[in-house]
Amino acid sequence: VFYAPEFNLWSVSRYDDILAVLRDETNFSASGALAVPDPPDEVRDRIDTFPWKRSTVTLDPPEHRPARKLIQAPFTPSSLASREAGIRANALRLIAPLRNEGRIEFVREYAFPLSLAVIGDVIGVEESKRELLLAAAENVFKAQNSGITGDRQALLEASEPICDALEYIDALIEDRRREAQDDYTSVMVRRQLDDGSYPDTEEVHTRLFDLLVAGFETSAQMMSHGVAALLGHRDQWEALRADRSLLDAAVEEMLRYRGQVKRAFRTTRNDVVVGETTIPAGSLVALLLASGNRDNAAFEEPDTFDITRRRQDHLSFGRWTHFCVGASLARMEVRITVETLLDQCPDARVVEGSERVGAADLRLDSISRLELECDPAAA
Ligand code: HEM
Repeated sequence: VFYAPEFNLWSVSRYDDILAVLRDETNFSASGALAVPDPPDEVRDRIDTFPWKRSTVTLDPPEHRPARKLIQAPFTPSSLASREAGIRANALRLIAPLRNEGRIEFVREYAFPLSLAVIGDVIGVEESKRELLLAAAENVFKAQNSGITGDRQALLEASEPICDALEYIDALIEDRRREAQDDYTSVMVRRQLDDGSYPDTEEVHTRLFDLLVAGFETSAQMMSHGVAALLGHRDQWEALRADRSLLDAAVEEMLRYRGQVKRAFRTTRNDVVVGETTIPAGSLVALLLASGNRDNAAFEEPDTFDITRRRQDHLSFGRWTHFCVGASLARMEVRITVETLLDQCPDARVVEGSERVGAADLRLDSISRLELECDPAAA
């Protein structure tokens, strides 16, 4: 547990200490950790507040409970199972350049398009409109950053695509109220709240935006980091090729070893002792999830990538109240990606030195480039 004065930020790095904070909702709050700017005046006739201001991940109980129930409602095992064939078909289509020509830039040509297709399908956005989602997702981070730097012009520019996506999503919600389709929006608009009413359009678009903001880039990055780890450890890749029963354990090890959501944030309500250190009331606290995943008090030889590892309770999806709603979906995307590589390009490898680190970000460890190659004849 340490304090960095230059960021006015406390950090918790040990596995057990992180769990203790996640469990302790008396002393730690999930709200207040993310200051969301207000939309600029120029777009106020289109949008009052940015939808992620009330994102599930920043709500504390009791407000968190109804939001969580609503967002979780569509994530049933059968709805996930029904999406598997579609994800597989997309994975097969996107991996084709590697199989046919022996080369692919995995991050932009595979991981992001696959993740966008999954989120688009879940929300119910037709293919020709998915660019709207992509632009909105990219601009959420720009809006957040310009809120911090006070750059008004950048905030305005980021707001336009967010408004475009929101207006489209609002129309989609109205459409699904009239007629249900096989998507999560249709489930949410029909989900009765505890008081017997149905969620209004703003509540539903807030939850749909949660899915986009929390689920799009995270999954794309997880596939990229995970594949880099797996293909980069040749003995582990060969072990998996020889024994596919290791697949689920391999996915968990990919999540642990390169868990790319580096930090979750909380604020303290009171002075509170973590480990042996007192963190004062009103502090911002970063939980270093990726660090906890490499804690040698929790995992034996934590810096070894080992797909036969028994202990798999990593921190990459958080825990308890705010445990990742999309964990099963994300796991499925990673698993299908690995299976597709095993089937289509069993000799796939990372082009040496091709991995590039993305822009620095407090939350997400991103890769901007990862080239894979294979022998098309072997494929
Ligand atoms: C491998 C990819 C993913 C990773 C590593 C990841 C990680 C996380 C983590 C660490 C949290 C907890 C944050 C906290 O406690 O402050 C979280 C929450 C959340 N995740 Fe994910 N996530 C991933 C994919 C997804 C997907 C695909 C979706 C949805 C389609 C999603 C939706 C959410 C939502 C809505 C929450 C907030 C839950 C709540 O506050 O109750 N995530 N995720």
